[in-house]
Amino acid sequence: MRAVTWHGVRDVRVDTVPDPVIEEPTDAIVRITTTNICGSDLHLYETLGPFMRAGDIIGHEPMGIVEEVGSDVGDLKVGDRVVMPFQISCGHCFMCDQQLYTQCETTQVREQGMGAALFGYTKLYGEVPGGQADYLRVPQAQFTHIKVPEGPPDARFVYLSDVLPTAWQAVAYADIPAGGTVVVLGLGPIGDMACRIALHQGKRVIGIDLVPERLQRVAARGAETVNLHDHGNDLGDAIRAMTQGRGPDSVIDAVGMEAHGSPVARMAQKVAGLLPSSISAPVMSKAGIDRLAALYSAIDIVRRGGTISLSGVYGGMADPMPLLTMFDKQLQLRMGQANVKRWVPDILPLLLDDDPLGVDDFATHRLPLEQAPHAYDIFQKKADGAVKILLTP
Ligand SMILES: NC(=O)c1ccc[n+]([C@@H]2O[C@H](COP(=O)([O-])OP(=O)(O)OC[C@H]3O[C@@H](n4cnc5c(N)ncnc54)[C@H](O)[C@@H]3O)[C@@H](O)[C@H]2O)c1
Ligand SMILES: [Zn+2]
Ligand SMILES: [Zn+2]
Repeated sequence: MRAVTWHGVRDVRVDTVPDPVIEEPTDAIVRITTTNICGSDLHLYETLGPFMRAGDIIGHEPMGIVEEVGSDVGDLKVGDRVVMPFQISCGHCFMCDQQLYTQCETTQVREQGMGAALFGYTKLYGEVPGGQADYLRVPQAQFTHIKVPEGPPDARFVYLSDVLPTAWQAVAYADIPAGGTVVVLGLGPIGDMACRIALHQGKRVIGIDLVPERLQRVAARGAETVNLHDHGNDLGDAIRAMTQGRGPDSVIDAVGMEAHGSPVARMAQKVAGLLPSSISAPVMSKAGIDRLAALYSAIDIVRRGGTISLSGVYGGMADPMPLLTMFDKQLQLRMGQANVKRWVPDILPLLLDDDPLGVDDFATHRLPLEQAPHAYDIFQKKADGAVKILLTP
């Protein structure tokens, strides 16, 4: 079969690789009909190279038709139309019983000290072959699938794999009070969808990014927008001016470690300046400061006693955090990979009627799988208006 494989920093290719086969009674093989590129894939493309092996098949937002099943896959049948959650979970362990599917104790990658295995996402997450391919082996298939009805096109359902539940969890964790305001940092697919969900729930939404067409997309749906380019170090002041001088109740960080620029490096410096110099020197020399630009913005912007909901993915152990400020402001910080199937019952009804979240035209590009290298290139560069790209095997 053909599959998108990782070969190095900014080097993905489409290779011919062996077809996957059933290895366990709980496996299924799915023929992929649509498979998305995610902002998380950009971390593999650029930053997480040390955790990848040349030839790894990537991708974790696939859907398709069940082609073959093992002997122990519950009610999953050949011919079923399914979306795969990006995480692999068993559905019957201690963690799954609490709907913490990202922590599944059956698939936890214990040798790396990590949670549930993920499709196509580094050694850290089990090095499971991913879904940007003609076929996908689905482990724990009795639970690792979402059945969707026949009829509407794939674009209606494919975001159940990641974008929709991630954005839904981001909004839920943001804990925006009735009549409250949320700032969404980063308007890629996750931030964009989080804006749509919060607007749908009747909240005031302020979206921040630096890519004009991304700002326009959420403005068109009723969010207020702020272009990061118009604000250097005064982003926090600008947002406070829009929110009675106080800051918003909640901030969602949908940026992660590919953050651009460091609008609040000033704040990082201020905080590091409060540390004893023996600590602050190494702290300030860390690349971590730049990568944490969005998170520092969130800590600066949110009102005292507010909530930060972190869906952007950050790597690294030693990244410094402004703990003093976080503590002093009495912030609540909630985070984690989305527990996909926990939110599906909330989301699915919104996909079956008049499309209030606008998923039908959410994708900006649909390209053949063979064009994956080009697709990664324009998505990373935010060129050609690329916001969400769907690949067709
Ligand atoms: N928690 C989860 O389960 C989960 C699931 C999917 C994606 N993610 C993560 O969510 C993040 C966003 O994903 P995406 O697909 O939307 O990716 P994306 O890369 O398309 O979006 C990131 C956006 O942030 C903007 N940005 C960069 N620096 C900024 C800054 N300093 N302030 C404000 N905006 C800034 C970029 O212009 C871009 O539009 C990524 O880190 C991704 O790994 C998490
Ligand atoms: Zn994803
Ligand atoms: Zn489990």
